[in-house]
Amino acid sequence: MSSLSKLSIGILGLGLIGGSLARSLRYKLPNIKIRAYDLNAVNLEAALADGAINDFDDLEGVVKVSDVVVLALPPLSNIDMIKKLSEIVGENSIVTDVSSVKTAIRAAVTLAPEPFQRNFVLGHPIAGSERSGYGAASHNLFDGRSVILTPHSSTSTFAVGIVHELWRSIGANVIGMSPDEHDSILASTSHLPHLLAYALVNVLIGQKKSDDIFRYAAGGFADFSRLASSDPTMWSEIFLTNANETEVMLDAFIDQLMGYKSLLSEKNHQALAINFKAAKTAREHFMEKHYNPQNSLNSPSRSTNYVVNPSSRIYGTISVPGDKSISHRAIILGSIADGVTKITGFLEGEDTLCTLKAFCEMGVTIVGPDNGVVIVYGVGIDGLKAPRIPLYMGNSGTAMRLIAGVLSAQNFDSELIGDESLSNRPMQRISDPLSEFGARIKLTKGNFPPLYISGTSLHGVRHEMTIASAQIKSCLLLAGINASGITKITEPAPCRDHTERMLEGFGYPVERRQAEGELIISGGGRLTATDIEVPGDISSAAFFMVAAAISKNSEIHLKQVGLNPTRTGIISLLKLMNAELQISNERVVGGESVGDITIASSELSGISVPVELVPLAIDEFPIFCIAAACAKGITTIKGAGELRVKESDRIQAMADGLTALGITLKTFDDGLQIKGGNLLGGNVKSFSDHRIAMAFTIAGVRASGPISIEDCENVATSFPGFVGLARSIGIDVRET
Ligand code: S3P
Repeated sequence: MSSLSKLSIGILGLGLIGGSLARSLRYKLPNIKIRAYDLNAVNLEAALADGAINDFDDLEGVVKVSDVVVLALPPLSNIDMIKKLSEIVGENSIVTDVSSVKTAIRAAVTLAPEPFQRNFVLGHPIAGSERSGYGAASHNLFDGRSVILTPHSSTSTFAVGIVHELWRSIGANVIGMSPDEHDSILASTSHLPHLLAYALVNVLIGQKKSDDIFRYAAGGFADFSRLASSDPTMWSEIFLTNANETEVMLDAFIDQLMGYKSLLSEKNHQALAINFKAAKTAREHFMEKHYNPQNSLNSPSRSTNYVVNPSSRIYGTISVPGDKSISHRAIILGSIADGVTKITGFLEGEDTLCTLKAFCEMGVTIVGPDNGVVIVYGVGIDGLKAPRIPLYMGNSGTAMRLIAGVLSAQNFDSELIGDESLSNRPMQRISDPLSEFGARIKLTKGNFPPLYISGTSLHGVRHEMTIASAQIKSCLLLAGINASGITKITEPAPCRDHTERMLEGFGYPVERRQAEGELIISGGGRLTATDIEVPGDISSAAFFMVAAAISKNSEIHLKQVGLNPTRTGIISLLKLMNAELQISNERVVGGESVGDITIASSELSGISVPVELVPLAIDEFPIFCIAAACAKGITTIKGAGELRVKESDRIQAMADGLTALGITLKTFDDGLQIKGGNLLGGNVKSFSDHRIAMAFTIAGVRASGPISIEDCENVATSFPGFVGLARSIGIDVRET
């Protein structure tokens, strides 16, 4: 059962959803075999006549010959049917459903025998219409719509992959969730609105002059009440099977209505207007960003500025969000592994979500993130599907460069695009070495995204890197696992080694000859899914480390921070500056060192940065410059030309900002020299670079007046919740 069009599909129930599925599959995969079962002979005859199905039969007749059985009945009938099906479907048949409720269906499935449970993939297309029945079915109902799959960690990854491909082939976008989360979200966004539409129409029917009311009703009534035309049997069953979650939402709604009642009796015009304005803004945001997400790529996002006032003391015990580098890699390797990978502590930042969405688009089912937990149903090394759209990498150089390594060895073409900053970052550094493997990549203006990658097969090479860049190294390792023969990569200096470590965690050997800086990997192997615990990101922790060090009477404890020796350059640098810094509780979790960091107010002294520490602290230079500005004496950074091609030119961005705050410095092509002094208040630009924005936020704790920082929205790329966490330890920062 490899290619979807060779499978035979059995659809149980030819209503709006089952009928639309048949029509869509027929439209997109004309040769696919579709059989149907329905108690209504008119539906069956109509579907046969218009060619949507090949034939129909009784339940057993359909189920016995189908590779994939789709349960498209109302929820209670689906639940009844699950027991019957478990007795008649073949051991290898895959079963899925389309119900708007998931916990009740999951409970019914868990009563069935094991092979049936493993092959049952719960699903729900978020598409429909107030019209019902086969007559309303359409071949494009699912085009561009979301389909939620709620697999269990014991569900067969093969079955998940086939059901994903079924929906994807008819234009839907598959997302993953847990059944509980599904039911709670759908209770608010779908079930409650249906209930309110039914309620409104019934309230109006109950009025004495209901005939007049309906005669003069216009567009507003038609818009609001549209959902009340939905199928009553279907919807009463949905409410019954999701009663608890709907009741929670109904209570919240009743509270809101009671609030309106009091505001009306108080004639509180202002409170009503404020309440309505909040709702209007939220709906407009939803329409722009979520309902039609393609629009949001082109529309400028709202600009966020920060204002920071000096703080008297920084104090507390905190955990920072998960490591960005490890989170990207966990999604990438989990996606191409065999089996189910569970990631905990995943960074829910915009950068890592771009990686996650890219692999969803390539046919990988990913459940979450839900409180940092992500479950990846790997498709295997050869299981990715051609993306239907350019893959959007947002602000993330890591996503673009690592994913390019994976994509250059596929049997399909792809295009990688990014935001304005990423579109100006150099990519020849990966396309040149990849072309030695035989990759075919076209860049824009010879060096920049978009990247156009033509699928081809690669052969292993020996490559000597000229830049100590973990993004380049990882890109080549990921190409190497898909290339024939052996790949040998030499790095000019050690840089972060998460890819090597994680590949080993996924059972893929990488020979590491440390003395020679050489990595050797053989192509053609497979990865085995594993669990990944992502530690806190030392690059995020660094902001608070410096905040405590430069403030009076301060002390911060940072729990569970990643301490991989290729990332701890900032700790070495702060110690060289005489920071009061201790590490405790050091341990190894999933192949990565982790520990707690305590740092207190320190008398920092200027230093010359040892050049070998530069790649080990490459992302920490913006915040290190703030430490240097607050230190006694002069700090010199050289050999750090890479800072010029990060999310912004970080040498210039820090020089501009520090100069605006009264600090004396000079810049070099590959670094800068900063004379410690007194930070003044003032305005600085972040150049939409997350780390510049956060670095100047920390400068604000020590400055003599407020600092305002422009364009801080990209902080969400690496550190969602930064402002809240900063405030919790005494940093007086607010968004404007
Ligand atoms: C990263 C590597 C670094 C770093 C980036 C993340 C990674 O880039 O700046 O934020 O995850 O591999 P380079 O390796 O290109 O220096």
